[in-house]
Amino acid sequence: MFLSIILTLLAVVVTYRAFRLIRNYIEARKIGLPIVIIPFTWQDPLWIIFGSNFSWIQHLPFGKWYKYSYLGFVLHDRYSTYERFNTKAFTVVSPGKNEVMLADVDAVTEVLGKYKKWQRPRALYSIFTTFGENVDTSEGEDWQRHRKVISHGFREHNNKLVWESATKQATQWMETWESQAHERSMRTLEDDMNTISANVLMFAGFGQDYSFADGGLKNIPQGHTKSFAEVMTFMLRNVILAWATKDLNLPKMVEPKKLAQLRATKQELFQYFDESLRRGDGDFVKSFMEANENEKKGARQYLTRDELFGNMYIVQLAGTDTTSYSMLFTLTLLATHPETQEWVAESIGEVDQYEDGYPTAIRCAAAMHETLRVYGAAPSLARHSPNVQTINIAGQKVVIPARTYVSANLSGCSHDPKIWGDDVAEWKPQRWIETVHEKEQFNKSLDLLAWSAGPRICPGKKFSQVEFTAVMSSLLKSYRLEASSGLQEALDDFTFEVTPKIKRSRIDGMSIKFIKR
Ligand code: HEM
Repeated sequence: MFLSIILTLLAVVVTYRAFRLIRNYIEARKIGLPIVIIPFTWQDPLWIIFGSNFSWIQHLPFGKWYKYSYLGFVLHDRYSTYERFNTKAFTVVSPGKNEVMLADVDAVTEVLGKYKKWQRPRALYSIFTTFGENVDTSEGEDWQRHRKVISHGFREHNNKLVWESATKQATQWMETWESQAHERSMRTLEDDMNTISANVLMFAGFGQDYSFADGGLKNIPQGHTKSFAEVMTFMLRNVILAWATKDLNLPKMVEPKKLAQLRATKQELFQYFDESLRRGDGDFVKSFMEANENEKKGARQYLTRDELFGNMYIVQLAGTDTTSYSMLFTLTLLATHPETQEWVAESIGEVDQYEDGYPTAIRCAAAMHETLRVYGAAPSLARHSPNVQTINIAGQKVVIPARTYVSANLSGCSHDPKIWGDDVAEWKPQRWIETVHEKEQFNKSLDLLAWSAGPRICPGKKFSQVEFTAVMSSLLKSYRLEASSGLQEALDDFTFEVTPKIKRSRIDGMSIKFIKR
């Protein structure tokens, strides 16, 4: 009896999914782009959780579809599917929603720029609403309101604070090393980069000064049971669970352990945010609080209390992991490319004030651009429209049905050999620098979309660049990096969890040695 119920349910699910797949295929044929068919997609919550256990499928004769089924596949696929089809767009057909993968820079810029026409799909972005609507999840006039408030926190004055804090953090980090040739495991380095970027954000945005040396955000303050770092790591790892159970109020007696843990962690994060607000320091906090006060006054530029917490949360989520993984990947790449490392290091003068230090460290900035070109933080950005739209893709007008996902494939755009040359697969920061009248400058003919484009471009772009440059110049001025064997291979075998990550299994046994110059 039980078995027949299970089999019937299974048959219903399979039939329903097959029906959707066929219906989507018929619709995709009308779009007219080359098609890739996949039975499971990163849009399926169960596939997100269990899909990685089926990676062996790709080695089977009919398993080629697997590589298109997980979130972040574009980082591994790069430009190869476009090369295979000789196009700049193809449609991925699944039982979920059809997804047009765009790697035509002009078309991508248009989709990202026309933010009112091409919106962020609610089903995807609502995972970031755990604490309330925010700049990342809102649309239209609401988004303009959020964006104006948040922009107050990202002024030039704030970049100076970022520089000062990041230089101080990097110095404290190096001071913890005991010897002239200090070896650090990749696992520790991952933790170090997370600590530095969390501390910089706390200082520049939230007005709280934590020292790298004494554990800072990893310490548990009075009145708390978990450190802020632990709380944020938990929330980052459980972002989907937090969203899925947002409105679930189970009685404590029947609440599963994981949900009880999530509830307690959310409560604790609220407490941390509340304490930040009561201190009232930092450019972000001040601007959020002022906007919340405006709500009571009926002013146009306001944030509700929920939106205030929503924005505090999104800034923490968007601002820490992105910069820290880009620093970790660059450290690894510098260690495995000694000549490029020297090329960057020889350009670094005294790491001084922001005003002189930042603009002159262009080779550091080149290294960051190149890391993000090859291993982008947000490799594809999905958009859709409630109406039928036409996009010009490589000179051809393509009609996109309403609510079809159109994904700006930033990784694809960064790997088009016609733009980047035959050495497109190489990590080569030198490509970003040109010499004009014997003076080095950024190569203006190249453009990177890693921070997105148009009005919804990342507001933390310069914040992250300043932080990255301050940390790298402080380090390379004093130390040379040497990779343990196998580190490049470990990096090549990276995975994607919110941002690119070296796989847990590969990180063990790997290290970088820092040798005093
Ligand atoms: C290497 C560093 C970073 C990269 C590559 C990056 C990339 C991006 C991208 C691609 C988007 C657009 C997302 C989308 O359209 O779905 C975005 C949005 C955003 N980023 Fe960043 N980001 C970085 C650092 C930061 C930092 C340091 C902060 C804050 C301190 C930040 C805050 C935000 C916010 C609030 C948004 C939403 C903006 C809006 O929708 O108007 N990011 N970022």
